[in-house]
Parts: sequence; C-alpha cells; structure tokens
Amino acid sequence: MQNLQKHSDICPANRVSQIKEYYFSKKLKEVADMNAKGLDVISLGIGSPDRPPHIRTIDALCEDSRKEDAHGYQPYIGIPALREAFSDWYKRWYGVELNPKTEIQPLIGSKEGILHISLAFLNPGDGVLVPNPGYPTYTSVSKLAEAHIINYELTEKNGWLPDFEAIEKNDLSNVKLMWVNYPHMPTGTPASINLFERLVAFGKKHNIIIVNDNPYSFILNEKPLSILSVPGAKDICIEMNSMSKAHNILRSYFHTIPEHFDLCKRQRLWLCLPVRNGMKV
Ligand SMILES: Cc1ncc(COP(=O)(O)O)c(C=O)c1O
Repeated sequence: MQNLQKHSDICPANRVSQIKEYYFSKKLKEVADMNAKGLDVISLGIGSPDRPPHIRTIDALCEDSRKEDAHGYQPYIGIPALREAFSDWYKRWYGVELNPKTEIQPLIGSKEGILHISLAFLNPGDGVLVPNPGYPTYTSVSKLAEAHIINYELTEKNGWLPDFEAIEKNDLSNVKLMWVNYPHMPTGTPASINLFERLVAFGKKHNIIIVNDNPYSFILNEKPLSILSVPGAKDICIEMNSMSKAHNILRSYFHTIPEHFDLCKRQRLWLCLPVRNGMKV
C-alpha cells in the first residue's frame, strides 16, 4: 500500500503537461457521440484511406510473412532494397537523385519522422515556424521538444501560401526549422516550383531548415513535385514522403536527409545533433 502511495506521487515530465489530447482523437470522439445521438455527421477528420492497398502489395506481404527468415529486427536504416526502391522512385517521379545509402531514412509513419527531426534539431526555446492552418502534429511535437512555436498564417487572400514578408517581421535569429506541407492539408493548395524556389531561398537567407511534408503529391495531381528538385535545395531542405495517401499503405513513410546533415550515420543515436558548418545546431 505504501508503495502504491509512493508511485501515485510520481508526476509526469513537465513537457507532458503542455500536451493536450491529440486534436483528431478528441474530434473523432465528438463525431462518434454525435453519430450515437442519431446525427448524420460527415467527418472531415483524418484522411484514412478508403481503399485497400494494391493486391500485389497484399500478396507480397502475405508471401514474405510466411518466410521463416523474415521476422528479425530490421537494420536501423531499413534494408538496402527498400532504400534503393525509394531512391529510384524519387528519380522516376520527381527527377531527384538521392543516395540510397545516406540520404533516405525509412520510418513507421510521419509522426515518428516529425518527432525525430524536431528532437534532432530543436533545443528547448529554439524557434520553429508552424503553418496555421496545418497538420496538428507539427504543433504537438514542437511542444514536446519545448520549442518556441511561431505560427505563420496561411490565408485565402494570400492563396494559402506563406507570406514571407509577414514572417520576416518576427525575430528569426533563433528559428531553426520551418514546417511546410505542399500540396497543403487542409486547403488542398498545390505545390509549385515557384513556391519551392522561394522556400529554398528563404531557408538559405535565414539559415532555417525547411521540412516539406509531402504525402499528398499524387492526389488528384498529374505532376507530382518535390522541393528537392529545386537546385541547391539539398543544402537546406528535408522532405518527408508517404505511401499512406497515394498507395493506401499506412504507416510507411520515409524522409530524405541531405548527406551533409549527417543524421543517417547516427541512427542508433538519433538524438545526437547533426553537425554542419554554419547551421544553427
Ligand atoms: C500533412 C500530413 N502529413 C502526414 C500525415 C500522415 O501520414 P502517414 O500516414 O504516412 O503517417 C498526414 C495524415 O493525415 C497529413 O495530413
């Protein structure tokens, strides 16, 4: 009994007190309550796929899961064949060359990537630019990292694009990361090379890492774009990509990390900060 009393006095870490219930978790409960009351709610909540993955994907997964040697721990940076496939895919669809050995990191979903990138770059108090409206995970993870969140407003008047002049009115000297997501959730604003060029230039001007979260480039879109197709983007950009939305394969995500960020080599110590001359790490 004494032990129980003692344990109940243990408080969670301070950073946890900043985190509220995840937006979509709360919203889905509200929707379930309303449905239970007989209301016919059209949920515009999480974009969970409404179709299964391709039958060949399912067959390959079934076939491989029957193999006796297919159940060990994976290498920290994923198997070479997977990284090579991601690299070929980037070349084929975006015209971007990525070194499969050093510039691609497979993940189990975007939240893992957003957390890793934030923990790798942000010390408590460091600035991070977060879009509003935008994917709520950028905010919750930034809070976990105890970073200083600076929201940048996306407005209809501005075509839901970043207003760089308005952003520059903030003190950016302590800002290390900027989350961007084009094609944009929730507005559906498409990406464009012009926007990506401006983002790369902005990142270089202020020495801020631009992270483009790019899970929607194949949705209702004939010309998928990557920020990494802009010359010089690898100097300052990371891109996250996903098979959830375009291929209905959930929780398979990867991000591209320019070689010089030196993160892939430090997989076992993901929290080690990458080193690059001139970068605010
Ligand atoms: C902007 C954005 N990024 C990432 C994700 C999640 O992607 P994944 O399923 O690959 O974790 C979503 C899902 O809704 C999203 O809207």
